[in-house]
Amino acid sequence: MKAIVYTSNTGFTKEYALLLQEATMLEVFSLQEAKTRLNPKDEVIYLGWVFAGKIKGLNKARSRYKLKAVGAVGMGEYSDEYEKMILNGNSLSQENSFYLQGGFDFAKLKGINRFIMGMMANSMKKKTDLNAEDQAFMSMYEKRTSYVSRDNLGPLIAFLENE
Ligand SMILES: Cc1cc2nc3c(=O)[nH]c(=O)nc-3n(C[C@H](O)[C@H](O)[C@H](O)COP(=O)(O)O)c2cc1C
Repeated sequence: MKAIVYTSNTGFTKEYALLLQEATMLEVFSLQEAKTRLNPKDEVIYLGWVFAGKIKGLNKARSRYKLKAVGAVGMGEYSDEYEKMILNGNSLSQENSFYLQGGFDFAKLKGINRFIMGMMANSMKKKTDLNAEDQAFMSMYEKRTSYVSRDNLGPLIAFLENE
């Protein structure tokens, strides 16, 4: 395996990439950097953040490299069902792909991403019956929250060790 390649907007996915580097000693590149540092078809682990259910940069990474494993980093709480939904929505197999709960940092969002999440928060503020997921979103929206941890990478690292 050559490297860890990632796409991160506000830094949580990059944190996972660096934690994975500590565990594997592989080099780490952003998808942009990887263009000049890796060769087409090199075998990589790809990590990307989740935007409306889709893993950012996944299509590009798929077309350039051989993806040994994939990590999807979102703000949603980890559960088996949530992982399945995200992986299915990106045509990924649970064998070599993993959902990792990242975090949320509204202060770091810009442009359209900031606009979308601001709208979402405003519409929730008008609701009276927030469900658990809505409440989790609102508390993450109000204060930068990170769930990044080395433990969350356990299944991905175990998969790599068994290969
Ligand atoms: C516009 C937008 C859409 C998002 N859609 C999802 C989503 O569908 N599911 C999810 O779990 N997280 C979603 N998120 C949250 C991000 O995936 C989460 O904050 C992630 O940790 C960001 O990683 P990064 O810091 O590497 O950019 C969304 C965030 C933004 C800004």
